[in-house]
Amino acid sequence: YHVNLDPSDISKGTYPYYMLKEIDEQPAVLRRLVQEYINEDGTFNFDPKLIDALKEADRLYIVAAGTSYHAGLVGKPIIEQIAQIPVEVELASEFGYHMPLLSKKPFFIYLSQSGETADSRQVLVETNKRGFPSLTLTNVEASTLSREADFTLLLKAGPEIAVASTKAYTAQITVETILAQALAVAKGLPSANDLDVKHQLGLAANGIQTIVDSKDDIEQLAHEFFANTRNAFYIGRGIDYWASLEAALKLKEVSYIQAEGFAAGELKHGTISLIEEGTPVAAIITDKETASHTRGNVQEVQARGAKTLKIVSEDLAQAGDQIIIPTLETVLSPLVSIVPTQLLAYYATLQRGYNVDQPRNLAKSVTVE
Ligand code: G6P
Repeated sequence: YHVNLDPSDISKGTYPYYMLKEIDEQPAVLRRLVQEYINEDGTFNFDPKLIDALKEADRLYIVAAGTSYHAGLVGKPIIEQIAQIPVEVELASEFGYHMPLLSKKPFFIYLSQSGETADSRQVLVETNKRGFPSLTLTNVEASTLSREADFTLLLKAGPEIAVASTKAYTAQITVETILAQALAVAKGLPSANDLDVKHQLGLAANGIQTIVDSKDDIEQLAHEFFANTRNAFYIGRGIDYWASLEAALKLKEVSYIQAEGFAAGELKHGTISLIEEGTPVAAIITDKETASHTRGNVQEVQARGAKTLKIVSEDLAQAGDQIIIPTLETVLSPLVSIVPTQLLAYYATLQRGYNVDQPRNLAKSVTVE
């Protein structure tokens, strides 16, 4: 089976919807990014001036909206772990007008599939005015955010047509990871050798492939799990919490099920009052430090009538877990854990008879503040 990634290809091919095509393209996108940004000899294909500017910085500020914001939230622990630099992640629509006290040497990273989001651009105009260095990660060459930032890295995901973003999310996390590793190497950090990023991204690409190959099972689960519900929860801790936010956004954007991503341990401090007989609660479990606590939270909601679904990495799997995903370095797990949630959102939407590529009230790129 071959996924065509010709950037000029905007046909659906044999797919009923772009969203499914774009979910399926993710392994090819990851492999393409590894080829693009990591050389055969293990060195990195980034502009040396970009790496120098990043080395100068004392803090990185990631600015984004929507799904790109969620890719930024995942990028923070990845970059902090690998490149040992503090990272703040900001909603573009908030940050521009309520800018916090910045560090002495900030470096701004704009994440944007389209490169046209007005909320992000408004921040970029301001940081340019103040003379701060900037990088845009975007899927669209010569887009506004790309032209106006000092540096650009392309996501190379091919056109993303479905309004709900899928392959741009995993592409953004992939580029953040490779960039973090390049920075760690350039800084000569001991942590640069902790992780074989190329190997991990290869595992991720293969892992996504096994998940998309089991889409029939996920369709069945979507049918059982989200049938006739008005609301649903995704829960997780740490990196799984950040993935839960994106999982919930995907579900609500396209299926109109009111979905919330929640820190698993925080549920009992309020939101658990929403759990009724049959409320779907899906847990993402990939972090061995917190797996048993999250399993405890699953039991708490089960005891109050919730219907539960567990998405668990192979090394932590137990009997009864419904979706088992390949194990990666914990911080990179959203590259695979997000994929079943994309498919669950897709199938839940088809079952409700909605147009999954064109959800009501949403636009692919929003050029007003
Ligand atoms: C719109 C889209 C979202 C997207 C967000 C940010 O609201 O509907 O799917 O995540 O904009 O878009 P960007 O192109 O900046 O990543």
